[in-house]
Amino acid sequence: MKNKKTLILGASSFLGEYFLKSNYLNKFFGTYNNHEVNSSIKFNSLSDDISELDLDWNDFSHAVILIGDTDPDSCYENPESSNLTNVVSIKKIIDFLVLKNIFIIFTSSEFVFDGQKGPYKELDKAIPILLYGHQKLEIETYLKSIQRSCILRLAKMYGNFDNDRTLFTNWVKDIDAKKKIICANDQYFSPVYVEDVVKIINLVIRNNISGVFHVSCGKKYRRDFLLDALCEAKRIRPEIKFCSINDFDLAENRPLDVSMDSSKITKLLNFKFTNTEDFIKNRFSV
Ligand SMILES: NC(=O)c1ccc[n+]([C@@H]2O[C@H](COP(=O)([O-])OP(=O)(O)OC[C@H]3O[C@@H](n4cnc5c(N)ncnc54)[C@H](OP(=O)(O)O)[C@@H]3O)[C@@H](O)[C@H]2O)c1
Repeated sequence: MKNKKTLILGASSFLGEYFLKSNYLNKFFGTYNNHEVNSSIKFNSLSDDISELDLDWNDFSHAVILIGDTDPDSCYENPESSNLTNVVSIKKIIDFLVLKNIFIIFTSSEFVFDGQKGPYKELDKAIPILLYGHQKLEIETYLKSIQRSCILRLAKMYGNFDNDRTLFTNWVKDIDAKKKIICANDQYFSPVYVEDVVKIINLVIRNNISGVFHVSCGKKYRRDFLLDALCEAKRIRPEIKFCSINDFDLAENRPLDVSMDSSKITKLLNFKFTNTEDFIKNRFSV
């Protein structure tokens, strides 16, 4: 039997590009909207009908949904259009994938939680305070009755490349430019290495794992602690101003503790997440 592929809806996303990079077995095919990427077809979920895409749907066994307005501030400032992108269009995509009997992997977020009592487990009640979190939770609820689906609640992802605009590489850029760093010292989270997320999704695909899972490094960190570890690795003491996460000019106040326990998925898949402090040491030590 021919090996079927996985459709990455939103392959031009930060996460999607890592899938396409790992496409050595020609396992993935993707969609992009504004930012064209290889092995992909143009698809705007607001104006195109997924059923009309020029694809042979028999080629696909799985789909990973990465499409979204992923900036909480943008969601809040554009509630109607973000609802169309993050909820209405995603439900249409899901309906179609179910009709085609394609296994669905949906990427949700740590922001389905209100930040009152991390580290969160999968059985903890999700009570979002951000509109973006509400939108993610609405799709989670929609998927609950769909057996051939998996919901992965992702922690904040970080990458390895200089200009990928993720947590550590952003700080390094500021440090190298001798800029003062403004760092929140009151928010807890469990950042996850993007390559680990790709591996987890591959394992979910290979094993048809369904359910809800937290995908995080599994440890609870404060941002200032990680910045300190980075400065230690780079043996540099930049000027740092500490503040509350909610002192930043944000459209909505952020939940203060979105750390997530990832033991459910680590046990099920026998997976070891990258230790964030080791990543910092190995990647940035001078
Ligand atoms: N980044 C994180 O730390 C993080 C944390 C938790 C959860 N997540 C979730 O993980 C997934 C990937 O996140 P990411 O940060 O990698 O995403 P991203 O870089 O913000 O990319 C968003 C993707 O959505 C596509 N898109 C937006 N509007 C579209 C539309 N109307 N039609 C079709 N495609 C559209 C974009 O296409 P174009 O760029 O081609 O326009 C892009 O591929 C998302 O579901 C996100 O909510 C991310």
